[in-house]
Amino acid sequence: MSAIAQWFQDCLPVSPEVIREMTNEPVPNHMKRWWFALGGTPAYLFVIQIITGILLAFYYETSTGSAYASVRYITEEAAFGWYLRSVHKWAATLMIAAVVLHQMRVYFTGAYRKPREINWIIGMFLLLCTLTLGFTGYSLVFEQLSFWGATVGANMADSVPVIGGFVKNLMLAGETYNSRTLSRFFVLHAAVLPVALIGLLVVHIMIIRLQGVTEFKFKDEDESKPKTFSFFPDHMYTELMLGLFLMILLSALATIFPASMGPEADPLTTPEVIKPEWFFYVVFRWLKLFPGTFAILSTGFVVFIMFTWPFIDAQIRKRTRFQEASVWIGIVGVLAIIALTMWEALVAH
Ligand code: HEM
Repeated sequence: MSAIAQWFQDCLPVSPEVIREMTNEPVPNHMKRWWFALGGTPAYLFVIQIITGILLAFYYETSTGSAYASVRYITEEAAFGWYLRSVHKWAATLMIAAVVLHQMRVYFTGAYRKPREINWIIGMFLLLCTLTLGFTGYSLVFEQLSFWGATVGANMADSVPVIGGFVKNLMLAGETYNSRTLSRFFVLHAAVLPVALIGLLVVHIMIIRLQGVTEFKFKDEDESKPKTFSFFPDHMYTELMLGLFLMILLSALATIFPASMGPEADPLTTPEVIKPEWFFYVVFRWLKLFPGTFAILSTGFVVFIMFTWPFIDAQIRKRTRFQEASVWIGIVGVLAIIALTMWEALVAH
């Protein structure tokens, strides 16, 4: 052993065998299919968000007077600023899409069932964290649409009975959007939510390591072949290839469709059309369809059902003969989300 290797061994007394044992976790063969191993995609995109986000934060200014100009500087003058901002924007879009697809895979394969209920609940918090990261990030640009989107969001919160006023105040740091609001969004976006997301992810992955992923039986499976493969290096290679593909895709999207700038926020002029980011279209359309308090409470109710779904599903399976009711409920849910999102995307008001 070389002197340097010996020095490392003395400082960190972990043998190569122990490392091999820790990383050689056998992974079921179905994890070779992207649909089943989708959880790695948002994790990878999150790392990209942290790196590009730190670089953007070097130039971003949180005051309402200079936020917009600082984003313009990043987009038009800072070296590679346009690229970093565009990759950050596209990776946010892909991360939200990947989290939703991963959740759909977990849902439709019933992988949330006993004993994985807690990991489903942690996943729901991960989903909410990811969406709130998207919302706060969008607000930082201080464009007309992001300013009015945040104002509409705060008014939505306000219509929640009892706690609404408090939540609105907490969000805006006052009754209305003011000079302290942006700093609040920035601290949430760049510190509180990413740290919360990392904490949740550590627990999510720890539970997966403890329980292993759900095993499935496939009709076309060859019984004579091994049922598992090694996490390291086999699964790691797949994830690395995926990472490379995502980097190429993100660079292509950033170059072909770079992030642009809308008009600067003007608190005195309400734009004719207010739209949030695409991932809130579904809630936005729902709010337009029903009166305020009902729309908000029903949205809260749907989120509550999503959190508690593993327990509701267990009761349906125990007490009725509809063993696969979750599949039909899921299909109706997904179709409703697609329909409301498309509707909001296609009409001006
Ligand atoms: C930032 C977001 C998330 C990341 C990075 C993540 C990561 C992962 C990873 C790497 C796995 C291993 C299996 C796979 O790759 O599919 C996994 C499994 C799992 N995830 Fe997530 N996840 C996230 C969000 C969610 C959400 C939103 C839910 C559901 C509400 C969820 C529920 C689960 C469950 C129940 C499993 C176990 C699946 C099984 O046993 O087959 N996760 N997650």
